[in-house]
Amino acid sequence: MVEHAGTAVITGASAGIGAALARQLAEGGWDLVLGARRLDRLESLAAELHAAHGRRVLAVPLDVRDGASLDAFALQAEAFAGSRGVTALVNSAGLARGAGRLPDATAADEAEWEEVFDINVLGLLRVTRRFLPGMRQRGVGHVLNMGSLAGIETYEGGAIYCASKSAVRVISRALRLELIGSGLRVCCINPGMVETEFSEVRFGDTEAAKAVYQGMTPLTGDDVARACMWVLTQPPHTNIEELWLQPTDQASAQKVHRE
Ligand SMILES: NC(=O)c1ccc[n+]([C@@H]2O[C@H](COP(=O)([O-])OP(=O)(O)OC[C@H]3O[C@@H](n4cnc5c(N)ncnc54)[C@H](OP(=O)(O)O)[C@@H]3O)[C@@H](O)[C@H]2O)c1
Repeated sequence: MVEHAGTAVITGASAGIGAALARQLAEGGWDLVLGARRLDRLESLAAELHAAHGRRVLAVPLDVRDGASLDAFALQAEAFAGSRGVTALVNSAGLARGAGRLPDATAADEAEWEEVFDINVLGLLRVTRRFLPGMRQRGVGHVLNMGSLAGIETYEGGAIYCASKSAVRVISRALRLELIGSGLRVCCINPGMVETEFSEVRFGDTEAAKAVYQGMTPLTGDDVARACMWVLTQPPHTNIEELWLQPTDQASAQKVHRE
């Protein structure tokens, strides 16, 4: 078995990038705390990773919109990590809803705006603030926030999602400045198009989701996870500030080569 590399907490570990990263981290010797709302998925991933790599993997239900769920999650994660503590926090939980343009918005859209900001921005803050005290006390910790190309480039129909991911980049930058001298590290990962469950959640329809990647080769969760692994395995004196990766077929938010 590979030597113990640390304990990572991953939000949004029930699907996509979070689940792919859990697999690569377990292979790399990390113990894991997996959080998301779909506990059945987390439990089967935890069992798979324990069987394949012999790592300790804890599955805990988490809704980043719910204070009681967040408290219980953080408490169980810290107890599981023990005296060495949580060494990495990966904030991958996030989503988009639709691609409506603001001039066409109606009152009905406001609930979705609130949901996106509540999960992508406030949820990330709520999780992070619960793990920072332990990390600061130990002087060890790496926070990886899932930003997006959408946080760098704005596109029509993306105002809400782009604003939320822009906020993730700004929060990551502020946190990095605020943690200087603590030994803690912060990175914002900004992927372009990644084929996960993301577009299905966004459009609520499998056919519409498939159309997003029609004729082009998107990134996979594994591609993004490899980039995260590289960030997480740099020596402690090296902080990768931000990492921006896109499919070769995508040169900007809306410039996509399709066969
Ligand atoms: N796919 C892309 O093209 C792309 C590009 C750039 C950035 N990103 C970002 O990458 C991150 C991961 O997305 P993905 O592509 O892996 O999408 P995904 O396959 O849909 O996974 C999203 C994850 O977030 C979790 N989640 C959603 N709401 C949650 C909540 N309230 N509490 C806890 N967990 C919650 C989901 O779990 P449950 O539903 O089980 O709770 C799921 O595990 C997101 O932040 C997304 O914005 C994605």
